[in-house]
Amino acid sequence: MSAGGRYRLLFSPLKLGPVVVRNRIVFSAHLTNYAEDGHPTEQHAAYYGARAAGGAGLIITEEHSTHPTDWPYEKLIHGFDRSVVPGYRRITDAAHRHDTPIFAQINHNGGQGSGMYSRLPVWAPSPVADPLFREVPKAVDGHEIREIVDGYALVAEHCREGGFDGIELQCSHSSIVRGFLSPATNRRTDEYGGSLPNRSRLLLQIVAAVREAIGPDLALGVRICGDELIDGGTTIDDALAVARAVEQTGHVDYINTSIGVATATLYMIEASMQVPPAYALWIASSIRKAVSLPVVGVGRFKDPLQADRALREGHADMIGVVRGQIADPDFAAKARAGNASWIRNCLSCNQECVGRMGLNRWLGCIENPRTGREALPLPAPARVRRRVMVVGAGPAGMQSAIAAARSGHRVDVYEIEPAAGGQVRLAASVPSRAELGDLVRNQLAEAERLGVRFHFGVGVDEEMLAASGADAVVLATGSVPERPYWAGDEIRVIDVRDVLSGRVAPEGRVLVVDELGFHQATSVAELLADRGCAVEVVTPGMVVGQDLGITLDMETWWMKATAKGIAQTTDTMITAVAGNGSGPVRVTVQQHTTGSEDVRVVDWVVCAVPDRPADELWRSARLRLSPRVAVHRVGDCVAPRRAHAAVVDGDRVGAAL
Ligand SMILES: Cc1cc2nc3c(=O)[nH]c(=O)nc-3n(C[C@H](O)[C@H](O)[C@H](O)COP(=O)(O)O)c2cc1C
Ligand code: SF4
Repeated sequence: MSAGGRYRLLFSPLKLGPVVVRNRIVFSAHLTNYAEDGHPTEQHAAYYGARAAGGAGLIITEEHSTHPTDWPYEKLIHGFDRSVVPGYRRITDAAHRHDTPIFAQINHNGGQGSGMYSRLPVWAPSPVADPLFREVPKAVDGHEIREIVDGYALVAEHCREGGFDGIELQCSHSSIVRGFLSPATNRRTDEYGGSLPNRSRLLLQIVAAVREAIGPDLALGVRICGDELIDGGTTIDDALAVARAVEQTGHVDYINTSIGVATATLYMIEASMQVPPAYALWIASSIRKAVSLPVVGVGRFKDPLQADRALREGHADMIGVVRGQIADPDFAAKARAGNASWIRNCLSCNQECVGRMGLNRWLGCIENPRTGREALPLPAPARVRRRVMVVGAGPAGMQSAIAAARSGHRVDVYEIEPAAGGQVRLAASVPSRAELGDLVRNQLAEAERLGVRFHFGVGVDEEMLAASGADAVVLATGSVPERPYWAGDEIRVIDVRDVLSGRVAPEGRVLVVDELGFHQATSVAELLADRGCAVEVVTPGMVVGQDLGITLDMETWWMKATAKGIAQTTDTMITAVAGNGSGPVRVTVQQHTTGSEDVRVVDWVVCAVPDRPADELWRSARLRLSPRVAVHRVGDCVAPRRAHAAVVDGDRVGAAL
């Protein structure tokens, strides 16, 4: 069946006021941190241009600030400064080159920010401190409200001048408009507070002002939150009333949707794999029944079939595929060509997109080393086709094989295990982390398409390397558990991998040690609790799974830990274990903030602690093969890190061969 037939609705055009989109796949707004000094960059243009080339039906850029009081994070585009217009032009030209309409999201974050960058008080409807920024805002008075409205109109004019085809007002999860709409943050008693019509007044004034600024030739959309998921916040009934009011203005061409508040319930806006796919579609579905404007549904749409089905079932008119197109710019083109299985599925891991945003870094993707680097030239094809031997089919080895094969080399990958994936394969064996396994599937499929040959169940030693005749060798032999000093030779102290691989099946009381602060300890704790073990996680950190905060997995971990009865002890280190190898183990723990000691008696201790590189082959091969054969190493056998670092290493080395 042709792609058009398979995804009939997804690839049908739609009219959004004056703009016609060629398909229903929207690259919805998301921060990129590509701006410099408040200005759009070449990287913005290359990034959005790549998604336009990849077939997206509509692109909506990240937000552009509408007022100098709005500067919540460093790399925000200062839309209120007219000097942004040439940068806008570069972005819109890049999208238009592929006949893709592009809208600008414009916004004032209101009290969901701080004065750290602007050195000004933040503005909000009422002096209610945001839970994340904890800064009490200035309640805006009448003339400041007019200034806000004027700011939106001014930025809309800049966008029109810069060639955008439409404007989206972000009124959903981090916005002064949201602040006014929500009873949780709007305590006003004037005509902007109290009843919903009063709380909607600012939104409707902005809609009118922006429409006047852009005229009839540009589209105008409004992004609305369907449920703030906070005490006293707006719910779907408010959203429906707001949607109807927006429609009645006659100025608006579509409604985009969202769920949650960015500074309180972000884990539901950019939900990780812990939250089911299409989890927020009910919002679009409800709003679509209340209005006749086209409605965008968004939230963990990972493949075209799922998106098309949501359209066919009448839940939405367009589907936002954000992380799906961060991971694979050609999402739409591949689906349209009938090659949906070629799509590099987003893992909803949040490691390099959301995670890097939270750390003020440019947006990237764990699976796609090109994301965030689109403006850099691609590596030149190899002048001489070389024979490349890769040892290890974990994420680093696979990516080096992909990059080398892309350059034109002939690549063979040897893996001692019967399957690819290395530690990612083990991590994905925990049911709630299964989607991580798509990394392996995606890499394997891409490598095979490029003609890489795999040899599973084959160990490689230096003799084999020497006899291989390879022109270049890439070692990706990974890392191995480093036994903690306090473990001695107690056999009931094991590593997370012993459990995940099934080598050991702990029962009874289990103490999990979290020194890595990521998914290793929490995953194994969950797995063992599900198997009926009584589990406690101890960590020297201030919180178990410290970095789950940046991937938005912390809240779901807490919910699951509570539901499964997993105890969590923080600021605590293990100092000694004593056991006889078969019975219970006495574990001495010390609270490092007070120095006080305690004892746990458990059946097993499972360690999530730093590894050491498995670099023995590199040491011997380097001596034996150099300088005749170039020997490289990538990933954990250089230094044990997380999967994104392995992919980046592999890509860099593979592309340079
Ligand atoms: C890194 C990142 C930044 C985001 N920033 C914005 C933003 O500035 N404005 C906005 O309306 N939504 C923002 N979002 C939310 C997305 O538009 C979208 O609703 C969310 O990612 C869920 O869609 P997905 O599962 O297809 O990624 C952001 C999402 C991500 C991943
Ligand atoms: S980093 Fe993970 S969540 Fe983000 S786009 Fe890439 S695969 Fe998706």
